[in-house]
Amino acid sequence: DTVEWEPEAAGKAGYPHFMLKEIYEQPESLRQTIHGRVDSINSTIELEDFEDGAFTDVDHVQFVSMGTSNHAAMYAAAHLTELGIPADAYMAGEYAEAPRPTTENSLVIAVTQSGETADTLNAIRRANNAGARTLAVTNTVGSSVTRECDESLFIRAGPEIGVAASKTFTSQVIALTLLSECIAEDVNETTNPGRRAMLGELADLPGDIQQVLDETPAEEIADALFGCKSYFFLGRGSARAAALEGALKLKEISYEHAEGFAASELKHGPLALVTEETPVFGVITGEDDLKTVSNLKEVQARGAPVIVVAPASLERDLEFADYFLPIPETHSSIAGVLANIQLQLVSYHIADQLGRPIDKPRNLAKSVTVE
Ligand code: G6P
Repeated sequence: DTVEWEPEAAGKAGYPHFMLKEIYEQPESLRQTIHGRVDSINSTIELEDFEDGAFTDVDHVQFVSMGTSNHAAMYAAAHLTELGIPADAYMAGEYAEAPRPTTENSLVIAVTQSGETADTLNAIRRANNAGARTLAVTNTVGSSVTRECDESLFIRAGPEIGVAASKTFTSQVIALTLLSECIAEDVNETTNPGRRAMLGELADLPGDIQQVLDETPAEEIADALFGCKSYFFLGRGSARAAALEGALKLKEISYEHAEGFAASELKHGPLALVTEETPVFGVITGEDDLKTVSNLKEVQARGAPVIVVAPASLERDLEFADYFLPIPETHSSIAGVLANIQLQLVSYHIADQLGRPIDKPRNLAKSVTVE
């Protein structure tokens, strides 16, 4: 007997798509991102080329990036701001309008999985010309961005074949969280008092991700909801980045119309679009997000199916929701990673129900090398 052997199928290791394989790889890819960098007993972080004091002179941080990488950068900007370091996340293609960095104390960080995105490379050239210090956070050793920037930090997620980013988002968020901690520690000359608790939860994050993957109700939810008119995603504060990323993933791979909003924006326009035909996803990762609950009740009163992604402990309080995607308890600054994985799975299963070519969506490319 002979066995048919397709190299591509072998690469998928039994999964029907690379994207699903990459979603399921996240416990392992995240372990690689963290490996050797975090000592949760002593609450220290070491990032290869960056010695203690490497960031002492930084007076503000600008992130430049596109797409999914931009959503990871939003997390990092929020985290740095919380630690007292002025930080903004710019869409690289809009960076020409941003305040120009003035000295080498301006740290401009390119976040790019491929390291080849034209908009991001151009923003970095602009920052270099202005005399800023530039740092690449990328998955790709030897990529163009590593040559353009003064320094590099690798996210070590391993190769990602699916055009839509999944595991690299998780690794970006966590690598950027570690980098932000190091920057703030040097500038503030003291360690974030919340770090110990956060690193403790980070050590458990690969296991928490596994739990999400093992127990997710995403497929049933997708079966119930696919084929609607539009899908909306709401979150406030750092949960807004998860909402934007949830919507981006769904539109990329399912071709369904999807939009992410700040929950506070709902009443200022998007509410006019809400009907029984527009499921609304709410991302709840922190206490402040409970305000999002009243926004969700409002859309539900107008007939929209409501799907909540939130810590499992809140399930009883959130019983009003039509569907619930639980995430294990973790530190609020990393909970977005777990919320996002639930949303990756919903998007995947909706796209699969619709028979889309998930790994290679029409019109999209893994790296966009023109502006
Ligand atoms: C393209 C891809 C997206 C990606 C974006 C930025 O649009 O389709 O998935 O998020 O580029 O890519 P980068 O390689 O810079 O992270």
